[in-house]
Amino acid sequence: MTFYTEPVTDLIRRRKSWRSYRREYITDDLKGQIQDFSASMDAPPFGSTVRFRLVDSSAPEKTRTPGTYGVIRGARHTLVGIVRPSPSVWEDFGYSFESVILFCTGLGLGTCWMGGTFSRDYYGRAVDLAPDEIIPAVSPVGYIAGKRSILDSLLVMGAGSRNRKPFTELFFRGDFSTSLDPAGAGAYGEALEMVRLAPSASNRQPWRVVITEEGVHFFLSRTPGYRKLFSRVDLQCIDMGIAMFHFASAASCLGISGGWRKWEQPPVIRMPEPLEYRVSWVPQS
Ligand SMILES: Cc1cc2nc3c(=O)[nH]c(=O)nc-3n(C[C@H](O)[C@H](O)[C@H](O)COP(=O)(O)O)c2cc1C
Repeated sequence: MTFYTEPVTDLIRRRKSWRSYRREYITDDLKGQIQDFSASMDAPPFGSTVRFRLVDSSAPEKTRTPGTYGVIRGARHTLVGIVRPSPSVWEDFGYSFESVILFCTGLGLGTCWMGGTFSRDYYGRAVDLAPDEIIPAVSPVGYIAGKRSILDSLLVMGAGSRNRKPFTELFFRGDFSTSLDPAGAGAYGEALEMVRLAPSASNRQPWRVVITEEGVHFFLSRTPGYRKLFSRVDLQCIDMGIAMFHFASAASCLGISGGWRKWEQPPVIRMPEPLEYRVSWVPQS
């Protein structure tokens, strides 16, 4: 499991999306640490290979970071994640990219997941993308500005980024008819809280979790039409991968051991809405 110099639960609580940066380069030492960390990470749960490049997105005369449609201001560096299509690659991508995002948070740097508002052509050229490779998302990396730009504040408000759904709406015991509250979740309470705090595309929070005797089962509640909006990339499965990383890294930090498993047949749990079973976390005694 990924190693941080402070509890991952603190990093998760501290991370926020930032779209306004000081127009400064980060030090070579910080750049080196991010590159070393991303090159030496463990493989994600489904074994996909995720490649990272920290691109110098400098255009000293410009306030806006190129290739971000004006959404990001000031950032001189962009973290680019690259994959080749494979089964469950989106979850693996979310899992790996979030672990680097949290590493950057630990270095005191700002980040912002971007799966929509960036130019895939621009960053594809910047990293010499091979024809069979895809860039699912990028993130600016830099020193945050003291104040959010107007556009940044509008995007935070528009997505309702400061809010999260209540615990009882996301997490269940046995089946979907019994909501779970933090106290009732026992040892899993804090790890589930880390799922709840995860970033997600447009803050849709599509993860639903049911705890049974066999394990902790993760389901996707898709936003209708969202999949068609970004047809080459499944952003909500990336959200799922982020949630998986938050859960597993928090569990490991709290001394709860277990591992990921995807059953061929979804666990027999009555589903009230068309949810998709994605994966389970099975505790180890
Ligand atoms: C997969 C993914 C894609 C995202 N894409 C964008 C994007 O294209 N542009 C953007 O400004 N924010 C994007 N976000 C940021 C979300 O809007 C943000 O995470 C959410 O509103 C919660 O806010 P927080 O990150 O500050 O907790 C994305 C987040 C995720 C996880």
